[in-house]
Amino acid sequence: MRIGVLCSGGDSPGMNAAIRGAVLRGVEVHGFEMVGFMDGWRGFHEDDRIPLDRAAVRGISPLGGVILGTSRVQPFVSGRGDEADIRVIRDRVDAYGLDAFLLIGGNGTQTVAQMLTDHGIPAIGLPKTIDNDLSGTDYTFGFDTAVSIASEAIDRLRTTGDSHRRCMVLEVMGRDAGWIALHAGMAGGAQVTLVPEFPESIEQISEWVLSVRDRGRSSLVVVAEGFRLAGGAAQTTRDGLDGFGRKRLGGVAEVLAPLIEQHTGIETRATVLGHVQRGGSPTAFDRVLATRTGIAAADAAHAGQWGTMAGLRGDRIAMVPLAEAVGHLKTVPEARYEEARLNFG
Ligand code: F6P
Repeated sequence: MRIGVLCSGGDSPGMNAAIRGAVLRGVEVHGFEMVGFMDGWRGFHEDDRIPLDRAAVRGISPLGGVILGTSRVQPFVSGRGDEADIRVIRDRVDAYGLDAFLLIGGNGTQTVAQMLTDHGIPAIGLPKTIDNDLSGTDYTFGFDTAVSIASEAIDRLRTTGDSHRRCMVLEVMGRDAGWIALHAGMAGGAQVTLVPEFPESIEQISEWVLSVRDRGRSSLVVVAEGFRLAGGAAQTTRDGLDGFGRKRLGGVAEVLAPLIEQHTGIETRATVLGHVQRGGSPTAFDRVLATRTGIAAADAAHAGQWGTMAGLRGDRIAMVPLAEAVGHLKTVPEARYEEARLNFG
């Protein structure tokens, strides 16, 4: 069997380990021939590919980024995903002699994996995203690394914030899901954690910050980039759309910090953590999760389990139907937010 591997969407720590896991199992155990397309669908459409054999994946698990590159180039040339677009993909699949795809990506990529499978082009999904917003899996690889980096940032901001008796606002990524903020906020003992799922008013936020000051402490506020004040829209200082046509997020901390300062009289500073969250070496947890995901995906290809995604269920990797994964975004449920709220103020 000849399998094409490609990565799509933003990079996520652990992608290299996933490729390595899939290749070690696929090539060494199942006898597949595997090829990697460079920079996602760009490499596929421009015939830019490399052989993925044991030598190609040697020592890559601890490396940040991804050896194949990734991009938000659309798979469908017209952008519509209609019959003509599918035909273009099918012609290339035939020309390259591919039997199937392993697609490493988030929501958009898993949706494409399902569309391809539905049209008779077999595909299996490997869920990655630092946002952890994919259904059908308990955790996506990359999330743990992002949370670790964000938690370390909180620890560091706390010491400088305490020294100056300032309120420090840290903005983390996550798009429409507050998972990174929720976990990093809990790990770092943030006095306020703001997530897109649960808007709060500036009056409520200020009340929490003032009550922290009244107890003789300085506030650490974590805010997810997609957070919006109650009654308002998401606040960004960035313009434009990304390659998938989604609004670029970022900058809510810069909007929030002066508002907190105005309402509380406490000097407030904003830090936007940005792409630091996606860079560098993956945590051991992400390396292990990604490696096991790659192994399970290769096994699923061997077994012909097309249209599935290798999700984490408890401590097992299970092949879940892609339809389950892409049906709806996995967002922070109220019970989890309530747990975090115990520490507010
Ligand atoms: O989806 C992953 C993610 O890191 C989001 O959290 C963030 O909004 C976005 O990608 C940033 O994308 P880019 O790399 O295009 O700036």
